[in-house]
Amino acid sequence: AEQAEATSRVVRQPASDADQRAWAAARAIGQQALSSGTVAVITVAGGQGTRLGFEHPKGMFPIGPVSQRTLFQIFAEQILARRRRHQADLPWCIMTSDATHEETIAFFQQQNFFGLSPDSIHFFQQGSLPAMDAATGQLLLAAPGQLALSPDGHGGLVTALAKAGLLTLLQAKGVQHLYYHQVDNPTAIVADPALLGFHIQQQSQATTCVVCKTSPTERMGVLVDLQGRTEIIEYSELTAEQAARRNDSGQWIFWAGNTAIHVFDRQFLESLCETGNQLPLHIARKQVPCVDEYGQPLPADPSGQPNAIKLERFIFDALPLAARTLIVEGNREREFNPVKNKSGSDSAETCRAALSRIARDWLQGAGQPVGPDDIFELSPLQALDAEELSENLQRGVFSPEQLLRG
Ligand code: UTP
Repeated sequence: AEQAEATSRVVRQPASDADQRAWAAARAIGQQALSSGTVAVITVAGGQGTRLGFEHPKGMFPIGPVSQRTLFQIFAEQILARRRRHQADLPWCIMTSDATHEETIAFFQQQNFFGLSPDSIHFFQQGSLPAMDAATGQLLLAAPGQLALSPDGHGGLVTALAKAGLLTLLQAKGVQHLYYHQVDNPTAIVADPALLGFHIQQQSQATTCVVCKTSPTERMGVLVDLQGRTEIIEYSELTAEQAARRNDSGQWIFWAGNTAIHVFDRQFLESLCETGNQLPLHIARKQVPCVDEYGQPLPADPSGQPNAIKLERFIFDALPLAARTLIVEGNREREFNPVKNKSGSDSAETCRAALSRIARDWLQGAGQPVGPDDIFELSPLQALDAEELSENLQRGVFSPEQLLRG
């Protein structure tokens, strides 16, 4: 951490007319890539959502502030709307795990794939790794003679994609750019043309969308330069003093919080598989249900400490392996509102409030009356952005009465 420098290959949010022009140019490049069918979306949805404590895959979590539409539905509608706008395929790859696979597939079937054609969605399963007793280091059992296994982390993506034959399939379809996002942030702009555009323009192999941390102690990984490479430093690896450090010109070094929205070059991910370059394993302490050798459930630690050590790979460990990387600053209020916790920050409550706030801003911009206590919700099928909402209302594509208010 002492050697880290503020990330240097970075595009900040537009602040001047020249910046606006640069963003518009990038957006045009991204739109071109989308309409030529060279983009695919990867949603990672294999996590167990321990903090949220929801008993189904997190993608099934009802998040729409008025309609209760699920996270999966919001992404499906974003993809449907993008395909429509750019008149292109935009394949959707969804990573599941042993913990989420069957229920996820059943849910998509039950929802008729949200109107998407089933053969344009590619479900693929990540691997599993054994969990160990945090006190003794012994392997934990799920049942007598059966190891307690957990998903191998979002970094399991690289091998899982290759194993499922998806890298080859995407190549055959002419896909070059992979937009990656996580299932728990419904405000991620799926296949964001500006992000894609900067990635393509700067010939990046791995691009990350960051947002400015609200404070040095905010629990977010930070992108930095370390010995000429782009790296993420986890918040847990920084002391409060280090996290607040500024460089000689007064710039805050650890400002660039990771949103977990990336764009990867397909060939870059292929090259990681070819070199057998497995991403490193990290240790996480989490609660894992387990039994003793006779099948009796082991009681939870009375101190409330997680009982297990899980091993996980992180996708952002791919960044330092890329020859060319890029960081693009996103608009935090608009793009980064994840559902991680049961309550408090990054919870369903804060995320629903964000979805309503974004819809309210767009409606206000379109000249619609908005009461101070109204709750709003827009489907991505009604509008993907403020401009589209204004246009669609003006053209009478739908009437103001068809907007969801709570
Ligand atoms: P998190 O690291 O927040 O984990 O995942 P989680 O499982 O959702 O929640 P906790 O930590 O247990 O409370 C971020 C994203 O990465 C995916 C998740 O589904 C989520 O979209 N993920 C995580 C996987 O796809 N596989 C994994 O093994 C872990």
